[in-house]
Amino acid sequence: MMSNDRFVVCGIAGSLRRDSWNRKLLEAAAKLAPADVDLRITERLGDIPLFNEDHIGNEAESVHALRAEVAAADAVIIATPEYNGGVPGVLKNALDWLSLPLGSSVLERKPVALMGATPGRLGTARSQFELRHTFVFSRSPVLPGPEILLSFAPNHFDEQGQLIDPIVLERVDLMFTHLKKFASLNEYEVV
Ligand SMILES: Cc1cc2nc3c(=O)[nH]c(=O)nc-3n(C[C@H](O)[C@H](O)[C@H](O)COP(=O)(O)O)c2cc1C
Repeated sequence: MMSNDRFVVCGIAGSLRRDSWNRKLLEAAAKLAPADVDLRITERLGDIPLFNEDHIGNEAESVHALRAEVAAADAVIIATPEYNGGVPGVLKNALDWLSLPLGSSVLERKPVALMGATPGRLGTARSQFELRHTFVFSRSPVLPGPEILLSFAPNHFDEQGQLIDPIVLERVDLMFTHLKKFASLNEYEVV
């Protein structure tokens, strides 16, 4: 663990929408986090410029800042919607920036846990699966489970936007337990 034995997690919401269900899910996770876990939700995504290889080595300040937030964390938790059956552009854009420099990026060997919420019925399964594929390339181990696929999202929050479904809350709690164990196993050499 990195800082004072606290397990630091960088939370990334894959939606910029003001009333985003995914941000609410991440906020619920931050509240639920055990005492030794510090889940810090990044506010950077909306400021990240569109990825352009011409700007590698001369990245925007927001890109440096997001990289620093991920570097300072023991793990990353992403809560993402699904757009047209795939990963939202804003999230993929940020991940492309984070994936550089190839072979020594802040994502290299960084444990990642995935969650997603949607008003629809498939719980963001497709975007989460696509993210697993992306993290093969950045060599970031992705927690196998518990899967958190929140379908019909509005039914699981109260009018104040608090996550109230006990089953989902239990799974989020379980995710922290497994993510911490998973991160502690992640000592292998990447070749
Ligand atoms: C362009 C577009 C495409 C979408 N495609 C999907 C989809 O493939 N699957 C899905 O479950 N929801 C889809 N949705 C609905 C989103 O899940 C919904 O807008 C959700 O609330 C976005 O996440 P957020 O609440 O975190 O902002 C789509 C929405 C938009 C605007």
